[in-house]
Amino acid sequence: MAWPCLSEHPHGVEKRRTESRRADNRMKHEVNRRRFLLTGSFGLAALGVSGGSWTLRADAGPTVASGELGDYAAYLDAKPTPGDKRKTGPTEDNILGPFYRAGAPYRAKITPPLAEGTVLLVRGRVWGHDTRKPLPGAVLDIWQANAHGRYDNDDRNHPPTESVFQYRARLLTDENGFYEFETIHPGRYQIGRNVWRPSHIHYLVRSPGYRQLVTQLYFKDDPMNEKDDFIKDSLVIELSQRKSMTGMMYEEGTFDIVLAKD
Ligand SMILES: [Fe+2]
Repeated sequence: MAWPCLSEHPHGVEKRRTESRRADNRMKHEVNRRRFLLTGSFGLAALGVSGGSWTLRADAGPTVASGELGDYAAYLDAKPTPGDKRKTGPTEDNILGPFYRAGAPYRAKITPPLAEGTVLLVRGRVWGHDTRKPLPGAVLDIWQANAHGRYDNDDRNHPPTESVFQYRARLLTDENGFYEFETIHPGRYQIGRNVWRPSHIHYLVRSPGYRQLVTQLYFKDDPMNEKDDFIKDSLVIELSQRKSMTGMMYEEGTFDIVLAKD
């Protein structure tokens, strides 16, 4: 039997309906999963009664404004405490170390894809100490060891290909001076007999009109911090443990940088 070209065979209609129902079920399953994730203690989104549109949770309030200066305002207003130089002055410097390589690509992921290790998100703002304002367009050179404490250029017998940069990247701060990158928690490495460096990430930060800063970021509770000869208290941050929407645990930390006027 021929079917008019603008209508459809009943079997085709039924098949399409079945597929449509399956798609609806998949969508409902996904929506329920997202609702579960987003209405937790941190989520502000919730589904309306109809189940079809996203609405702000009833108890959600406006985001608290940080003010023009953000966290740095608190730094500058805070009464200096002994040893807490970060609250009153430019970020302290630290050794460059032997593993810096110039010319890393601009990207927000420091590691190669699927790199071994605990995922770590680091974010912060770059500030001008003189203006007390964020610095847009500042360049951050980031480099670190892999999960086993190895740099991509620490084996003289196997130097890296000139154009290949692993566990290294450059970043630009955005229009509000923010930066953020994804990496893995760096491994510790041995630099002498029974001498280990704690986990750390190297920074080289530049912004026109400001003094170039070479420093390192360290992590609270690293067992090697106590014995390290180079660590400075103001460069140590505390990491939070987070859970992703897929259930993966990862670490997160904030490291603000304050540059001194040139
Ligand atoms: Fe290092």
